[in-house]
Amino acid sequence: MHRRLDRALPGVFISLEGCDGSGKSTQIARLSRRLELAGLKPLVTREPGGTEFGERIRQLLLDPGSPDRSILSETLLYAAARCEFVSKVVKPALAEGRIVITERYTDSTWVYQGYAGGVPLPTIETINKIATGGLETDLTVVLDIGEASVIHRRLASKRKDKIESRSDAYHERVRQGYRELAQRFPNRVVRVDGGMEVSRVEAAIWKEVVNILSEKGYDLTNEKQGRESL
Ligand code: TMP
Repeated sequence: MHRRLDRALPGVFISLEGCDGSGKSTQIARLSRRLELAGLKPLVTREPGGTEFGERIRQLLLDPGSPDRSILSETLLYAAARCEFVSKVVKPALAEGRIVITERYTDSTWVYQGYAGGVPLPTIETINKIATGGLETDLTVVLDIGEASVIHRRLASKRKDKIESRSDAYHERVRQGYRELAQRFPNRVVRVDGGMEVSRVEAAIWKEVVNILSEKGYDLTNEKQGRESL
């Protein structure tokens, strides 16, 4: 059990980012379990989605049969889902002092619609700010896949959604976009090599999460002991 300090601990906002097929869902499940072992109750959620309204927008955006749209309309739809998500899910949970882990957040728009899709990055940043009221993550972990071929292999067997069905060139720009993101925002974005064995990726993510939680006043010392005795 983590030790609570005298004052109430703050909410902490963490996102996992990366290309389609980079292993985010697996790693979020593992991270969430580790936090639970530490006596914490993380809220695990995802974008687009997280609210009923957001899940409907998700369908509209990702259904393979969904009509084509301009990249700017797409950006605004992601932003509309995000606006609901932040006000109805994220902010209330953070106000209760919870750790919120989301699969994707504003950085996905920066990379997919901005860097890879061609909407100017300052426009994306303005839209993100409007949708979120300026709420940024405390930590964003990018699962970096060094080789495009790994992603192609992982996606090959899947029924692809609207975005996954885009060209290899688009997905290559997404991969590069995540690298650029980590360089542009080093204060909150860290890159983890997503090509490593799953438990090594888990350990690398955990190290980053422990760092940010320690900075916020959490003490997870005993959790490590708990894991060693598992
Ligand atoms: P996923 O939940 O299976 O990762 O699917 C979400 C898809 O939506 C994924 O291909 C990335 C894409 N996406 C964007 O293009 N922009 C965004 O802002 C977000 C949140 C996701």
